Amino acid sequence: MLRGERRFDRQSWSTRVSEPSAWERFEAEQRAASGGAGGEGLSQVVRDLLADVPAIEQPNIYPMEWHGDTEGKVAQLYERSKREVWNPADLPWDQLDPADFSRPERLGVMYWYSVLANFDGSGPPVFAKAMIHSYEQHEPDPVRKAFFSITRDEINHEEVCQRTITRLWSPTPTEWQPKNELEALALRNIRWLYYNGSRYWRGYSEALKKYPIEVLFSSFMMGEVAATTLFHTMARQATHPVFAQSLRNVGKDEARHMAICLATLEDYFPKLSEQDKSLITRQLRAGFVFLSMILYEPPDDFWKLPPEYLSVHREMEELARRAGLGVATLDVKREVWRQAMFKVKAVVERYGIEFPAMPEVGITGKEVTQVDFDDIIPVF
Ligand SMILES: [Fe+2]
Ligand SMILES: [Fe+2]
Repeated sequence: MLRGERRFDRQSWSTRVSEPSAWERFEAEQRAASGGAGGEGLSQVVRDLLADVPAIEQPNIYPMEWHGDTEGKVAQLYERSKREVWNPADLPWDQLDPADFSRPERLGVMYWYSVLANFDGSGPPVFAKAMIHSYEQHEPDPVRKAFFSITRDEINHEEVCQRTITRLWSPTPTEWQPKNELEALALRNIRWLYYNGSRYWRGYSEALKKYPIEVLFSSFMMGEVAATTLFHTMARQATHPVFAQSLRNVGKDEARHMAICLATLEDYFPKLSEQDKSLITRQLRAGFVFLSMILYEPPDDFWKLPPEYLSVHREMEELARRAGLGVATLDVKREVWRQAMFKVKAVVERYGIEFPAMPEVGITGKEVTQVDFDDIIPVF
């Protein structure tokens, strides 16, 4: 570090008292290796020269540096992401012929992918923001690169939503002419859904600045466990080849995202403060509520929806199921979502984090009453 430069201070973006960050430790080692902190051991001439350089106000993407374990699990997963690329344009889209489906079936599939897009279509901007944040906070290089690879994958997932919806219905799921009452209700559901999505985006954007990376990653992990579970379940049940193939490809990416989160948390979790742990418990509950919209059914806590929302939603899912999309039935969803939450429970409890109660799927745990639904962090 250059003399006189203001040090990056984690407490300015988090209220907790923290250990030195990985970057701070790395810097201290570098300074020690090259002649001592603050330039001791350097000639006065050199010290005067270095003292001239203006400080860089943090958070900032500068100065450029690359610290972190470049051989570790996260770095390896980043390498794997480069090898496992696939192109959504190469899927056999000509086999997804709108003429093969009834209009209600097309409506159901379009509806389901519009719901999915609330989570998967938001992936690119959500992860791009997280990536920029990780550069500004000088997180380890493999973590920053992992965020980039996830952003890259999410663009593909968004493209699958885009292609399916456009092919079967319209490129603008909130702007089309309904021909009957059911279509009007479906359109209204999608509009309500994206209104809620906009609340998520605002909350997420604020939360990113507010919470330490380890809390953020625990929410990211929730989202990735949810995504992996969803796509694997559906890929097994889908009968249409285009749906089955795209769900498989997306599911493979999501499993890698989940592995990235778990590998990152292995580094971050052992250093958690008690305050962070209780924050994580609350965020896990928030994540469950948010993600239940696609994995199961939306609890009231966060979701602002009109009274008929759920009955229309169920009807749309039934239509999509008939079209061969592989949407699980409510019973299967509940069981699969419950098993996924048990996986997360096992991970966090290993580090002394209490798991929140999820009575919706029959999981007992810490009663969380004060969830701030302005701070929703999970991602897909
Ligand atoms: Fe995704
Ligand atoms: Fe993901």
